[in-house]
Amino acid sequence: MKKTIVIGVTGGIAAFKACQLVSDLVKLNFDVHVIMSKHALEFVGPLTFETLSNHKVHIDMFDRNFQHDVTHISLAKKADVFCIVPATANTIGKLACGIADDMLTTTFMATTAVKIICPAMNTNMYTNSIVQENIERLKQHGVRMVEPESGLLACKDVGVGKLASIEEIKEMILDSLTEKTLKGYRVLITAGATLESIDPIRYITNHSSGKMGYSLARMAKRMGADVTLVAGNVALPRISGITTIFVKSALEMFEAVKKHYKNQNMIIKAAAVSDYTVKTYQSHKIKKSDDELTLALKRTDDILSFLGKHKDKKTILCGFAMESEHVIDYAQKKLVSKHCDLIVANNVTEANAGFQHDTNIATIVTKDQVESLGLMSKLDLANYILLKMKEMG
Ligand SMILES: Cc1cc2nc3c(=O)[nH]c(=O)nc-3n(C[C@H](O)[C@H](O)[C@H](O)COP(=O)(O)O)c2cc1C
Repeated sequence: MKKTIVIGVTGGIAAFKACQLVSDLVKLNFDVHVIMSKHALEFVGPLTFETLSNHKVHIDMFDRNFQHDVTHISLAKKADVFCIVPATANTIGKLACGIADDMLTTTFMATTAVKIICPAMNTNMYTNSIVQENIERLKQHGVRMVEPESGLLACKDVGVGKLASIEEIKEMILDSLTEKTLKGYRVLITAGATLESIDPIRYITNHSSGKMGYSLARMAKRMGADVTLVAGNVALPRISGITTIFVKSALEMFEAVKKHYKNQNMIIKAAAVSDYTVKTYQSHKIKKSDDELTLALKRTDDILSFLGKHKDKKTILCGFAMESEHVIDYAQKKLVSKHCDLIVANNVTEANAGFQHDTNIATIVTKDQVESLGLMSKLDLANYILLKMKEMG
């Protein structure tokens, strides 16, 4: 069944950003309802939210033109999450004092859903001790908060008070809707390509975007795990709430993994680590000439082999295999030779799978099973892999 998310919009300049959030959540297949404060109407028209959410926007508690299944109480009951974006100082103050004098505050007070506030206001308003006390009080009552960012505010002041990014807000909503099946688990994940410098200008790398490893890290965090991510050369937004170690070369990745591999419940090696690096790094730019250039390469350390040999007994080890032919055969050999518990094999030649894509087509190889999965989002695949590893633990 579709989960219901109620978005409360209050009268701040950042109200327009809630439109994007509603649109994104609808695309993620949630049933989204919007409640606006009267002052929010000064900033955005309800028609925008109605068109995006496909539902009437609720503003007036005493509106006689209503359906019985969408009064403040039924919306409060229906909601899985109630998130206020943006949350003004005024509404935060009212909620902290138990005031319920409009549709938005009354529904917020009446719901037992996960409650989230996303404050956005002028810096001096935000740092005002009364506002801070109100936020603290709401937190003590179990309300979650997406912290505002620092930056140039609409009032031209620079400081804290800018609405958190829609991505951060969405992540908090999705996090709060995910069952904490990995609570108490420690998970180490590697992601992305490594980068081997040839000289100060050039390097050797591969096409890995890091999306699979980041999806695993994001999903493990949503499932309640304590996540350490070793990220290679990636251009992806940082995931809040996890420990991320940024590295470049295969050697740096190996050092980071050696530092963190002990005492983990799960280790997932989703990074595309270079098998070779240059024999001699040139400290000055190699000048071009008309002759051919031959680069002497040497093997890098095999991180997965190291983990297979040295990991704790209880740690479930997952390797990834990206191949262009004989995928299952190579994956089965890798499983044995690297002492892994499972290998996630993907074929780089398949459409919408492998490097760069948000989707993947994987086959999970264990010692007694070969399980081919269809096309799915990397986040869904991450969820599947993590549950499988939990089962094996
Ligand atoms: C142009 C303008 C921008 C405003 N921006 C904010 C804001 O970003 N954050 C905030 O807390 N209040 C802001 N306010 C003040 C609120 O609109 C005011 O406190 C109002 O009472 C909030 O009502 P509500 O919480 O019921 O929506 C702004 C007011 C104006 C006129």
